[in-house]
Parts: sequence; C-alpha cells; structure tokens
Amino acid sequence: MRLAVRSAGTAAPRVPALFVGIAEGDTLETLKLPAALRRPVRAALAARDINGRRNKVAVLYAEGTRLFLAGLGPRKGVIPDALREAAAVAARQAQGLKVKDMAVWLPSLSRFGASAAVTAVADGLNQGGYAYNAWRTRADERTTRLESIAFLAARPELAEAKAALAGLQPLLDGMNAARDLANRPGNDLVPRSFAEAAQAMARPLGLRCRIHGPRDLERLGAGGLLGVSRGSAEEPRLIELEYTPRGRTRGTLVFVGKGITFDSGGISLKPADNMERMKFDMCGAAAVFGAMQALAQLKPAVRVVGLVAAAENLPGGRALKPGDIITAMNGTTIEIINTDAEGRLVLADALSYAARFKPDAVVDLATLTGACIIALGAVTAGLFAGDEKLHDRLAESARRWGEKMWRLPLSPEYEEMMKSDVSDLKNTAGTREGGACTAAAFLRRFTSYPWAHLDIAGVGHLDRDRAGLARGGTGYGVKTLVDMAMRWE
Ligand code: BES
Ligand code: ZN
Ligand code: ZN
Repeated sequence: MRLAVRSAGTAAPRVPALFVGIAEGDTLETLKLPAALRRPVRAALAARDINGRRNKVAVLYAEGTRLFLAGLGPRKGVIPDALREAAAVAARQAQGLKVKDMAVWLPSLSRFGASAAVTAVADGLNQGGYAYNAWRTRADERTTRLESIAFLAARPELAEAKAALAGLQPLLDGMNAARDLANRPGNDLVPRSFAEAAQAMARPLGLRCRIHGPRDLERLGAGGLLGVSRGSAEEPRLIELEYTPRGRTRGTLVFVGKGITFDSGGISLKPADNMERMKFDMCGAAAVFGAMQALAQLKPAVRVVGLVAAAENLPGGRALKPGDIITAMNGTTIEIINTDAEGRLVLADALSYAARFKPDAVVDLATLTGACIIALGAVTAGLFAGDEKLHDRLAESARRWGEKMWRLPLSPEYEEMMKSDVSDLKNTAGTREGGACTAAAFLRRFTSYPWAHLDIAGVGHLDRDRAGLARGGTGYGVKTLVDMAMRWE
C-alpha cells in the first residue's frame, strides 16, 4: 500500500475517488469541502439521502471525482473504531467500482484528531481494499486491490498527518502479507514453502532467519511437530525469525504461531463438509509472519523472536494414532486421544523452544479450537493470560487497533482434565465442555515465562464476507503484536 500526504488546496482535487467522513448532524460547513464539490453534497443533504448514519456510504459524482460520503454515526461518539469501519465499508464499495487510488479529504476528519483519523482511515481503507487474486487467470475476474491512499490535508494539519503516516506503511503491508499467506491454498503453502517465504521476507529486511527441518527437530526432541507430520509426505519446519535492536534493548518478546498448513484431522478425520477451510489453520503463523515483517522495518527497542510451528496434518500410513504416546521438546509425555487436536502438539514444542530466548513475555496465536468459535463467534478472539501485566498490555494494544479479544480462564481444574492415565498429559479432555479452556490449560504446561495465548479459530479467517472485510484470511493479530512490541518498556 502506497501512502502519502498532500496539501488539500482550494480547488477540487483531481482524484478518481475521494473519501469524506460525515457524522450525524453534519452540514456543508463542517465537511469543509472545496467550493466546486459542494453542489452535489448540498443537494444530497437537502434530500436527506445522506445522514451520517454509521457505515452508510453514499457515492456522489462531481468534477470528475467520486465522493464516498461515509457515515460516522453521532458526532460526539466518533472514535477510531467508527472511522476505521466507515473507511473499510467505503473501500469495499470503491473496490466494486474498480477504484485503485483513494484520496481522503482530511479537513472533514481532522476535528476528530488529525493523527487518529489518519491512522484509523488508512487502516480501514487498507482492510476494505484488500483482494486476493493470485489464482485468477482471467484479468476481468480479478477483484480490484486498492494500491494507494493519499491524505489531502489543510495547512494546519499537514505536519500532524505526515507524522501519523510514518510507520503505518510497514504495519499495513504486514497485515496484507499475513492475509496473502493465509489465503494461499494448502498445496501451495506447505511447511517447506512457508519456510521459503520466511527466508525471502527476512533477507532484505535484515531479520535473522533459521529453519529447523526434521533432522534438527529430531535432535531437539520435537515430538509434537514430528508426530503431527508423520501422516504427511510434507516435512515439518520450525521457523525462527529474530529481530535484534541496535544498542540497548528493553528485553525479549517471543511470538509463536500455529502453522498447520492443512488440518484434515489426521486419523481422527474431519467430516468432508467445509474441510477446505482447514487451509486456514495457519492463521496464527501468518500473524507472526506479518508482525515480524512490520517490526523489521519499524525497529522497536525490544528484541522480538517469531516462531512458526509448521506441519501438515494428514492420515497417511505412518500417521499418529489415538493411543500413541509422544514426547514433546520439554520432555513432557502426551497420550494422543484425538489426532485432530494437533495444534497444541506443535505448539508444545514451539513454546518449549521459546524458553531458550529467556523471554520477558511470550504470546502465541492459534486457530486452536472449535469451542472458542462457539463461545465467542467470528468476532472476538479468546485471550488466556497467565500474567496480569502481559494481559493488560495485550488488551490495550488490541483495543487501540480494534482487534477484539476477551479473557477466558486459565485455572487448575482445566489442567486436571488434561491428565492422562498412562502419561503426563493427554491431548484432549475427552469432553467438549470447556474445550477452549482445556486446550489453553494444556499449552500452559509448556510455558515457563510470562505467557498469553490467543485462540483465533473464529477470527483468523472469515467464512462469509462482512461489511468492510472480505471472506478469507483477516490478518488478525498483526496490529496488536506490532503495537505491543513498539510500546514495550
Ligand atoms: N484447527 C482446528 C480448530 C478449528 C476448527 C479452527 C474450526 C478453525 C475452525 C483444531 O485443530 C481442531 O480440530 N480442534 C478440535 C479439538 C478437539 C479434537 C479437542 C476441535 O476444536 O474440535
Ligand atoms: Zn485439528
Ligand atoms: Zn488445527
């Protein structure tokens, strides 16, 4: 995404599309439009065809430009969430009109704070303007992808707008990278090609990238990654990306992503209906990838390590079977009850591995349980935190960027349910009750540092289009991780 700030001027801007924010009760004066663009807006206001209702977008034509008048809701309640959503809805509408370049009339928005408006609108437009076309061979069937956003700013807000824009581009590009990765089909994105993508991303950005294949994993005792991969012809990979700041650091963060490039369930095979969606079982890993890409450019004062546990879960002749017992990297033995509970097995290794960095905090993201979707739907991620300070920091970063998460419990009762008759742990409790919580309790046994877990099964990808957000990978988590690292102290 190309981002720019330009001087608004007094003439009608020569742009193909112009985003204007309108709150309930707004008049021509509050929108501060140039004279040449006022006439159609005056007429639409008089006819009450535009009213500022939240997420209602009217398209008007004037002076060779399309005005996207996007409703922001009641004037007093315009918060970044309203700006972001309105921008996302407008961008989706503009996408249908094949708009590649969107300008933003900042004088209509700077009353909500120029800096906040620039950030939220850029985020929303980027979100709504996203499209995945990699496999469309016919040009006329591709969905238009928004390529540039130009903020047109009046003199007093120019400097603030420019400052707000700095740093935004790596973040939005990181989001889009995560979505592109998540949307790749399971035959294209396998653990090996995931590792190649990480290497290709890391090299030009100066990130250290280490890839652990099966032989390394044997040596490390990564029984989870190796076990899950047994039924597949694709080898597992533990992908390690590391950013180290110059000079003094404020400590070390580790982000861990579940990277199951396809989850058939294994021997505990999933039903055929909707199984194609299980190519998205690497959305946690995609978020870690996108966040690391952004952070390599944003250069926080903290060391950040990204770990991706990549494997494919298939029911081949050598596959893990119910009743098998494996040993994870930290020596914990695990009885396999259901081979479809594979995410926690690969995470067990990655979380064990994370300890070697002596982290101040570890956050894992995983499309881990259907139970979390039942609890919170496709709207909110489940947040499990074993550390209050880490909880508060994560929740605050998430709130700033509109990534919804809600705390669920980590408590000893759930851990009790994961004890096996024959080994240290079993991989499912044997009941669906509290499924997201028992999974989190399982993961906790592999952590030895301040830790939080995000179950993004519902929010990592969408099955249906939503206002302002196309179905497919959402990039959920990138913004929260990046924000938390940038503000870490
Ligand atoms: N990848 C799935 C969870 C999932 C389901 C993500 C639907 C997104 C949409 C995970 O590996 C899984 O299959 N979990 C099982 C665990 C169960 C066997 C304890 C589940 O949630 O049913
Ligand atoms: Zn599974
Ligand atoms: Zn899975």
